[in-house]
Amino acid sequence: MTVDSTVATEIRSDIANPALAAEGKKRIEWAGRNMPVLAQIRERFEREKPFTGTRIAACMHVTTETANLMLALKAGGAEIALCASNPLSTQDDTAAALVHEYGISVFARNAVDRDGYYSHLNAALDIKPDFVFDDGCDLVNTLHTTRTELLAGIQGGCEETTTGVIRLSQMAKDGALKFPMIAVNDTDTKHMFDNRFGTGQSTWDAIFRATNSLIAGSTVVVAGFGYCGKGVAERAKGMGADVIITEIDPTKALDALMQGYRVMPGVEAAKIGDFFVTVTGNRDVIRDEHFAVMKDGAILANSGHFDIEIDVAWLEQNAKQKNAKIRHQTDEYVLSDGRRILLVAEGRLVNLGAAEGHPASVMDMSFSDQALTAEWLLKAAAGLGAGLHEVPTVIDKEVARLKLESMGASIDTLTPAQELYLNSWEHGS
Ligand SMILES: NC(=O)c1ccc[n+]([C@@H]2O[C@H](COP(=O)([O-])OP(=O)(O)OC[C@H]3O[C@@H](n4cnc5c(N)ncnc54)[C@H](O)[C@@H]3O)[C@@H](O)[C@H]2O)c1
Repeated sequence: MTVDSTVATEIRSDIANPALAAEGKKRIEWAGRNMPVLAQIRERFEREKPFTGTRIAACMHVTTETANLMLALKAGGAEIALCASNPLSTQDDTAAALVHEYGISVFARNAVDRDGYYSHLNAALDIKPDFVFDDGCDLVNTLHTTRTELLAGIQGGCEETTTGVIRLSQMAKDGALKFPMIAVNDTDTKHMFDNRFGTGQSTWDAIFRATNSLIAGSTVVVAGFGYCGKGVAERAKGMGADVIITEIDPTKALDALMQGYRVMPGVEAAKIGDFFVTVTGNRDVIRDEHFAVMKDGAILANSGHFDIEIDVAWLEQNAKQKNAKIRHQTDEYVLSDGRRILLVAEGRLVNLGAAEGHPASVMDMSFSDQALTAEWLLKAAAGLGAGLHEVPTVIDKEVARLKLESMGASIDTLTPAQELYLNSWEHGS
């Protein structure tokens, strides 16, 4: 861990390359152009300084969009320490710019190993946070396992993704969660757009950057038909692929079938797929029995939060040969019978591992939710109690309203008679 002496003494960092700061700044500003809602919030924070005296530890993908969220919080008076929520998702130029152009403490290097990853989480926690931002629950988990001395000082936090919310709800059920956490993922303006349109686009962006393969006329297998899966499937269908869905939930499977996709067990789909994308939040979704029947040249990618959806360990142990990085972020595993399996971004979150994550315009909504929720939480935390809580609907609707406005669209309002009708029960046929 280095303490960089070229910036103010309270700014701490462990980043790959400070020389990338100018390039990072350009890209952060570019993302900012497409985040008009967050920009409005930032301007207000700048005036009102709601976070003065507040220390925030954030464990999020260190991307240009996250940088804009950090800048909004800083403008509001917060002191921030940022670390990465995935070993492959850090954009080193963004990390450098945050430290050297904007004076924010960052602990993140692309392709850090497991020990480095956790040392970064711990370094961010050394700020002794009042609030935490998490993306996948690793920071909250660390607080509850190895940094318990900090728990008493934490007033609350926000969680960004589905997998983190699932983990937090288990913690809450077990009575283990020691402070209020807010499920930002569960707002409509987050998961209906970020998970669906963001993951849908950026997952394919990553697979194309990595393999430059033609999707038209191919067979795409999407494991999981949740918000992310719907997005990945829709984009593949739109580009001319024959899309197969695998599911374990009968309702989701039925939805997929009625939307015109083929639905079948994973092991059947494994025989015919050209591309496989996992977005389930579950483990071992593609494993030995699937590898055993896949076509030569099958391309595999995971866009779920953790790198457990594709059994990469099996490939590592059983392939007779590994041709590492035969292209950008693509490893080739040659099986004993000569078939080749191509794995993008090591089975980690592919859109951040092999591309730049979601486009800024969609993160504008997720991070506006985060910013407004954090502001609300400052006042609400004391009354909430430990556990998992929802974002107030008023924040969700405000973000939708501002986003619509920024896109130049407007909608109808209820007439008084309509309002009365919707709030009454006396009217019959
Ligand atoms: N790549 C990204 O940038 C990004 C963005 C948002 C969310 N995520 C992550 O993506 C994952 C999915 O998120 P979501 O919001 O779509 O969740 P979701 O709960 O809406 O959908 C997950 C779906 O997977 C299905 N599923 C579970 N186990 C399965 C199995 N063994 N085989 C087939 N299907 C199975 C579930 O029934 C469900 O329909 C999570 O890990 C989430 O954190 C990633």
